[in-house]
Amino acid sequence: MNHSYFLRSSLVFCLCFSVYSFTAVPPKHKPKTIEQKIDSLMATLSLDDKIGQTAQRGTSSRVKGPLAEALKTAVRNGRVSSVINVVDIDKVNELQRIAVKESPHHIPLIFSRDVIHGFKTIFTIPLGQAATWDAESVEAGARIAANEASASGIRWTFAPMLDIARDARWGRIAESAGEDPYLASVMAKACVNGFQGKDLSSPNSIAACAKHFAGYGAAEGGRDYNTANIPEQLLRDIYLKPFKAAKDAGIATFMTSFNDLNGVPASGNRFLLKTILRNEWKFDGMVVSDWNSVSEMITHGFATDSSQAAEKAVNAGVDMEMASNTYEHHLKELIRDGKVTLAQLNQAVRNVLRLKYRLGLFDHPYTQAPTSPAVLTAANLAAAKKSAAGSLVLLKNSNNILPLTSAVHKIAVIGPLADAPHDQLGTWTFDGESKDTQTPLNAMRQYWGKDNISYAAGLAYSRQHSHAGFADAIAAAKNADAIVFFGGEESILSGEAHSRADLGLPGSQDSLLMELSKTGKPVVLVIMAGRPITLSHVLDKVDAVVMAWHPGTMGGPAIAEVLAGEVNPSGRLPVTWPKTSGQEPLYYNHTNTGRPATKEAYVAIDSIPVGAWQSSLGNTSHYLDAGYLPQYPFGYGLSYTSFTYDDLQVKNSAIPVNGRLRVSAQIANTGKRKGTETVQLYVQQLTGDLVRPVRELKGFKRITLEPGQKQMVEFSIPAAELAYHHQNLQLATDPGKYKVWIGKNAAEGLEGSFVIK
Ligand code: NOJ
Repeated sequence: MNHSYFLRSSLVFCLCFSVYSFTAVPPKHKPKTIEQKIDSLMATLSLDDKIGQTAQRGTSSRVKGPLAEALKTAVRNGRVSSVINVVDIDKVNELQRIAVKESPHHIPLIFSRDVIHGFKTIFTIPLGQAATWDAESVEAGARIAANEASASGIRWTFAPMLDIARDARWGRIAESAGEDPYLASVMAKACVNGFQGKDLSSPNSIAACAKHFAGYGAAEGGRDYNTANIPEQLLRDIYLKPFKAAKDAGIATFMTSFNDLNGVPASGNRFLLKTILRNEWKFDGMVVSDWNSVSEMITHGFATDSSQAAEKAVNAGVDMEMASNTYEHHLKELIRDGKVTLAQLNQAVRNVLRLKYRLGLFDHPYTQAPTSPAVLTAANLAAAKKSAAGSLVLLKNSNNILPLTSAVHKIAVIGPLADAPHDQLGTWTFDGESKDTQTPLNAMRQYWGKDNISYAAGLAYSRQHSHAGFADAIAAAKNADAIVFFGGEESILSGEAHSRADLGLPGSQDSLLMELSKTGKPVVLVIMAGRPITLSHVLDKVDAVVMAWHPGTMGGPAIAEVLAGEVNPSGRLPVTWPKTSGQEPLYYNHTNTGRPATKEAYVAIDSIPVGAWQSSLGNTSHYLDAGYLPQYPFGYGLSYTSFTYDDLQVKNSAIPVNGRLRVSAQIANTGKRKGTETVQLYVQQLTGDLVRPVRELKGFKRITLEPGQKQMVEFSIPAAELAYHHQNLQLATDPGKYKVWIGKNAAEGLEGSFVIK
């Protein structure tokens, strides 16, 4: 190349380049969609890499200490997709660094944890949150839990639990929103919005998980893990409704359940996971198994070995396997043998990767250490206190003994749960700590002054049988103006695997209460428990009863404020309260039967004449010994003020099937204090293609009224909300006659009627 040629060429190049740089429009690159990103990534993954994306590994909840080398190696080799129960920010970031920098495809991990009713700031248990009937405060609680947990690197919680619980013997009723599909659906949406926030990819949003799909709450006999037999109409009309609400609210993940549903374990249940969840509901998020629930299909007798368990689970639509490792060990050979298609595995992996993209993990894999305190802040504690106070249900208040007036100077605080910080946190509180918890004893000492509170537990823990502490408790009671007894269940008596056949107060609590009542001092019973507690032995021995659930970190001050009357109780039961365990399963939205119980037809067991003939007792659906009514109905709860209901107006008493029911009533605060009332709307369809429930909750509104204030409360309910699944499984609203009630609970209310044309 001679010199002049080089100069000429350079000149031409420079000219061309400058012309290009002035005139050419760079091609527009549309940002890739998540699906396109998944396509590109999938194209690079080997079969082993794909199988790695279906694995969740980790440790049991309480293991502390350094990260296991085996876990690090598995992450480094791309054999782990999600990690459960690693919560330390340094360990989270270390594992994430290994995944992002050292694993073959740099795919980030998702860190997960059971953040069920709070992370460090523990809120009242989910059943208590449902008792607030306050979606805003439930959403706020979930948001706080998300903020606190994400500060430690957790981006996925296994909540909300959306199982309908019609049987209080089932220990996990504590984690549920109770028995009603409408209330549970409202709570489901609030939780999803709270956990996931407005933008799932924001670093303080965490993916929520609708669990346990499905039917887990219908465990026969209330015994955890037991078989559930649910006819399809009931499944769709009751049990699946909160799950559908969570799906519609945009929940990111679902978890299968431990139980078999109509004979098919949930983790191998194509009908649930494919027909309903994917095909009908069009869910495009991710499905995880429950802990070992894939391998437990062998024990169920649904799979011969772990290879078949993997085959059944992945073919049913379980995308990620929690804890057990049947996918890791068998998917390769199952695909080779044609028992699982590559397309099926690809689908599972795509669902996993979609979640990771939606969480923004590819862009922001690491957790930034918070610059200001992220947990147990004053605002978080205040929200937990508000939620706990709002959950308190005043069940009995003879002679308005509550609130404790200024005439009550000296209070005897008694009972095994008065100063039991661990127990008041309730079930599923891995990260909440006793040291951060304010007990009722502490709070009452602060409120009433140390010298005015005399404390004697009487029983060291809820199950204790010994009466050794009774004498001190009685002595304390004798020197007081009033007794506040904190009883109920320790947290260990409720939750997973903690079902109880006897729903009474455990240990010698009944006996202690009876002794205390003999002092003649007014007795207030505050129950802390994960479920309704039967009170038949003690109800007439106490003057007031407050259900406080397991109220969490701020339970003490919340209870003290209600006892003192600073907060007017507004909680309402999300579950029917039994008189005796033998009434379970017990729920308000039962069907009528051909022989419904009536007051007239009921002869109590002690009134039956000796030698009476069968026919003299009448034939209706009741128990001779327990009658036919619960202790307290669903929706029940008292206030320190009183509310009256008047002037029910059914605005349109003939409604087209595509129309709306409009109905209103006037609610007045007729007492002397400001108070919050939960106005409930129930409907009954009188005749149907299938027999219909005696009442179904279709709406509620919380209103706060000053003394003397009145408010017209109006509901507008689409007739479509009255649809149910018919014998032919079609969902339809029937023309015909209906009743409607606006009332305080499922057993009261102003009654009206309407027809659908
Ligand atoms: C088993 C429980 O059933 C489930 O609710 C929980 O999320 C998982 N274990 C993970 O701890």
